[in-house]
Amino acid sequence: MTYSCQLFSLISILIFSPIALALPHSYALWAADSAIKRGQGNGLDSNGKPSVSYEHGELQWGLRQLYEKTGNKKYYEYIVSAANNIVSNSGTVLGSYVISDYSLDPVRTGPTFLYLYSETKQAKWKVAADTFRAQLNAQPRTAEGQFWHKLRYFNQGMSAHFRRHIFYAQYTKHFQPTNNTAWADIASQFTLMYKNTLQAPGSANYTGLLYHGYDHSHTATWASSDRGHSPEIWDRALGWFFMALVDVLEIFPKTHGDYASIQNILLDLAPKVRDAADPQTGVWWLVMTQPGRARNYFESSGTAMFVYSLLRGVRLGYIPDADGSIVQAAKKAYKYMLANWVITNSDGTMNWTNTVEVGSLSGDGTFEYYVGVPLILNDLKGLAAFLLASLEYENL
Ligand SMILES: *[C@@H]1O[C@H](CO)[C@@H](O)[C@H](O)[C@H]1NC(C)=O
Ligand SMILES: *[C@@H]1O[C@H](CO)[C@@H](O)[C@H](O)[C@H]1NC(C)=O
Ligand SMILES: *[C@@H]1O[C@H](CO)[C@@H](O)[C@H](O)[C@H]1NC(C)=O
Repeated sequence: MTYSCQLFSLISILIFSPIALALPHSYALWAADSAIKRGQGNGLDSNGKPSVSYEHGELQWGLRQLYEKTGNKKYYEYIVSAANNIVSNSGTVLGSYVISDYSLDPVRTGPTFLYLYSETKQAKWKVAADTFRAQLNAQPRTAEGQFWHKLRYFNQGMSAHFRRHIFYAQYTKHFQPTNNTAWADIASQFTLMYKNTLQAPGSANYTGLLYHGYDHSHTATWASSDRGHSPEIWDRALGWFFMALVDVLEIFPKTHGDYASIQNILLDLAPKVRDAADPQTGVWWLVMTQPGRARNYFESSGTAMFVYSLLRGVRLGYIPDADGSIVQAAKKAYKYMLANWVITNSDGTMNWTNTVEVGSLSGDGTFEYYVGVPLILNDLKGLAAFLLASLEYENL
């Protein structure tokens, strides 16, 4: 039998065996179709009012990649209708968005506006993107130049908001490619956060990863007196930062002197993220600084974010993986996710479990705080990250 014949029979077995039929063709498609069927990420809140939500922006980031991969217009159309719900015909950003909050959260929908502008050349998307860009120009900063997360979080930077810098980089690439002040500023957002929140060698339960937040004034209840960082490493905050590192390198000019400073952060963190996984299950703890402690648990959104970033970082050549250990770690975690966090519903959709609702530094940022936050079924922050992780896994 020739090789191709053998391959053909193998495929036939896979296609026609009942077990294979029960499995979805693609977990990325299944996650997207399930979210769409539930109306998730459609630019509206539960009362049907416009909602400029970073979670929606994250889903759209995945749907765009799915559309580019499959050519299925339904994903593109879902993005368009969601974005139309939050931007008026003249380009006003709707919902509760006001520039004077200086919150970086809504800015995560900016890449969708830039994408639709490049696809349609409709002026409204450029007007909406310009609104976010104007916000960044006036965004309050620490004395070192680091963006505050929002006006009411005086002097504070959170690693969770780093996905928003993707917009800053894309906007610069589209409209101001030679604005070196902007490129240097984007890079310095990453290097400042890294410097200010990196766990010091010799710390108890050393991971060498990044604490959740930083307060330049060192006055927040959670800020360490010596460096101003929060007490714990929270998986999803690091997950957002880690995804942003990989995605920003795709946009940032390789010839710019600061490209290496961003890549070096990724090179430092990638093996540490790999090594922080629980050795048995291969996935990551909610509070990464307290592995195995009672009430701590394996959290699904952070895990999906690490899988996406590790696989994508290796695939695009940003993270070397000579011994294959990084991809191996990501695959192990991915299989755990499928076996433990994906539920098949009788209507053919999937549910996604074990994503923590929120992690905020409006309180004291202690271990007790993080483990006390509820888990949310089908939380879009986790489900969108699972979609992205699945896209990368299915690219292997
Ligand atoms: C370049 O970027 C900087 C920093 O974001 C900004 O202040 C400035 O307005 C930009 N320059 C132009 C010509 O748009
Ligand atoms: C180190 O980890 C252990 C096990 O999770 C935990 O009980 C302990 O509180 C941690 N120590 C610090 C200083 O975080
Ligand atoms: C799946 O999620 C929906 C809510 O989106 C819920 O009503 C349903 O009970 C869940 N199914 C299972 C098996 O958990």
